[in-house]
Amino acid sequence: MGKFYVTTPIYYVNDAPHIGHAYTSVVGDAVTRWHRLLGDDVFYLTGTDEHGLKQKQAADALGISPQELADRFSVRFREAADLLDIAYDDFIRTTEPRHYRAVQKFMQAIYDNGDIEKGTYEGLYCVACEAYYTEDELVEGCCPIHGRPVELVREENWFFKLSRYQDRLLEWYDQHPEAVRPQTRLNEVLGFIKGGLQDFSMSRSHFDWGVPLPWDEAQVAWVWFEALPNYITAVGYADDEERFDRWWPVDYHLVGKDILRFHAVYWPAMLMAAGLEPPTCVYAHGWLLVSGQKMSKTRANQIAPSELVDEFGVDPVRYHFLRDTTFGQDGDFSWEGIVARYNADLANNLGNLLSRVATVVARKCNGVGPAPQEGSPLQALAADVYDATASAWDRVAPHEALEATWRLVHETNAYLEANEPWKAEPGPDVDAVMGDALEALRIVSVLAVPAMPRTCQEIWRRIGMSGSVAEERLPDAARWGGYPGGLAVEKGPPLFPRKQAA
Ligand code: ME8
Ligand code: MG
Repeated sequence: MGKFYVTTPIYYVNDAPHIGHAYTSVVGDAVTRWHRLLGDDVFYLTGTDEHGLKQKQAADALGISPQELADRFSVRFREAADLLDIAYDDFIRTTEPRHYRAVQKFMQAIYDNGDIEKGTYEGLYCVACEAYYTEDELVEGCCPIHGRPVELVREENWFFKLSRYQDRLLEWYDQHPEAVRPQTRLNEVLGFIKGGLQDFSMSRSHFDWGVPLPWDEAQVAWVWFEALPNYITAVGYADDEERFDRWWPVDYHLVGKDILRFHAVYWPAMLMAAGLEPPTCVYAHGWLLVSGQKMSKTRANQIAPSELVDEFGVDPVRYHFLRDTTFGQDGDFSWEGIVARYNADLANNLGNLLSRVATVVARKCNGVGPAPQEGSPLQALAADVYDATASAWDRVAPHEALEATWRLVHETNAYLEANEPWKAEPGPDVDAVMGDALEALRIVSVLAVPAMPRTCQEIWRRIGMSGSVAEERLPDAARWGGYPGGLAVEKGPPLFPRKQAA
C-alpha cells in the first residue's frame, strides 16, 4: 500500500468541455479508482488553466473580463467532470491565491539558482498553443497542431536557460526509461532533446493576465511556465512542506500527445532548476478523432460529453472511452462504433448475463442465490482474469484490463449455455451452476467498478451483496468463494437496453 498521485492536464477555459477532455479525465479516474481498490492512498487532480494571451483574447472577443470568462467556463469543466462521475480529490484553478503563492515561490527558486536571465527574443508564435515554433516545424507556414497562421513576436523579457539542461535531461531519461510512455513518445522526446534545446522566454510584458514575477512586477509568467506548476501547487508546495514531500513526485501526468513536449522536456528541466524531482511518468495518449480529424473549436466538430451521456448513460460512455481505444494511440470516435460496442459488450454480454442469472434464480432457486462451488470450472479462469486485469491496470492499459475482465463475463455466459440450467429441474445441479454464475458476477462487479461505478454497484446490489462495492479491497475481493449464498437476488429492468444500430 502506498501513495498514488495522478493528474490530468488543466483545461483551457476559452473552450467548452468536449469528449477529448472527457477522455483523459475518465482514464485518470478509472486508474485511480483501481488503486483505491488496492488500498492505496490516492490523490487525483484536475482543473482549469485560466491565464495567458489566448484567454485574454477570448474574453476580449466576448466583451467580458478574463476573470469572468474563467469563472463561467471553469464551472462547466467541473460540471462535465461531475457528469462523468470523475472522483477528483481536488479541482485546481490557476487564478486561485494558493497557485500564485506556489508559482512565485517556484519562479523565485529558479531565479535564485541562476537559471532565469534577461534577454531578447524574436520568433514565430502560435497563440492557440501559447508556444513558439521554428520555421521548419510549421506546416505550410501554419501551426502544425492548429493549422492556423503564426505571428512574428519580438520580446524583451526573462529567459529560462533550458539549454543548460540538455545533458541532465538525457541522463534522467537514460536512468528512467519509463518516465515517458509509451516508448514511441520517449523516442520523440529524446529526439527533440538531442536536436538541441534553446532557452525560452518565460515571461510576458505586453499584457498582464497572469502571475507577476516576484523580482519584476512589470512582467507576468508565460502561461505554460505558470500552468505546469499547478501540479505542485495542489499538493502543498508553497503551504505545507510535509504534505508536499509525501505526494511529490507525481506518479502519472496523463496528457494528450499535443502537450508532450511541455510535460516531458520543459517541465522536468524547470523542476530540476528549482531543486525538485521530475515526474515519475508522463503518459501521453493519442487523440480521439472524429472523421479522422482532431476535435477543435475551429473545425466545429466537437462533441459535448452530455450528448453521449444523454443517449447512452454515463457508464457506457466511460466504458467506451476505456475499452475502445488502445491507451496511447489515436482512436476514431463514431456513433456507429459506440452503438456497436454498447450492444456487443454491455447489452448482449454483461447485461444479458445478469438478466439470465436473475431469471433462473427466480424460477429455479426461489429467488435465493446459491453459494458457488469450490473447484468450479470457472474458478481457475477467474484467477487468471484477476491477474490479467490487475497487470493491465497497473500498466495503465484500460482497454486490456476490460478485455481481460470481459473474458469472465463471456465464459460465464458460455458456461450457462453449456449447462442450460433453465431447462433443468430445481436441485443441487442447478444450484451449483447458479452459485458459480453469481460468484462470477460478484467478481466482475469488483473488477469493473473502476470503469463503471454505478453499474457495478447495481449488479452488486441485485445479487444481494450489501454495502459499497467500491469499498471492497483487492486482491481478497477477487478470490473465488466470496459470494456467501443465501442472498435474495433481484430481477430488475435490463441494465443496458439494446440500441438500434445507427
Ligand atoms: O493544452 N483527443 O489545455 P486544453 C484526446 N491548458 N484528448 C484530447 C482531445 C482529443 N481530441 N482534445 C483535448 C491545454 N484533449 C493546457 C494544458 S497542463 C499544465 C496545461 C485533452 O484545454 C488532452 O488531454 O487544450 C489534451 O492534452 C488536453 O485535453 C488539452 O486541453
Ligand atoms: Mg488545446
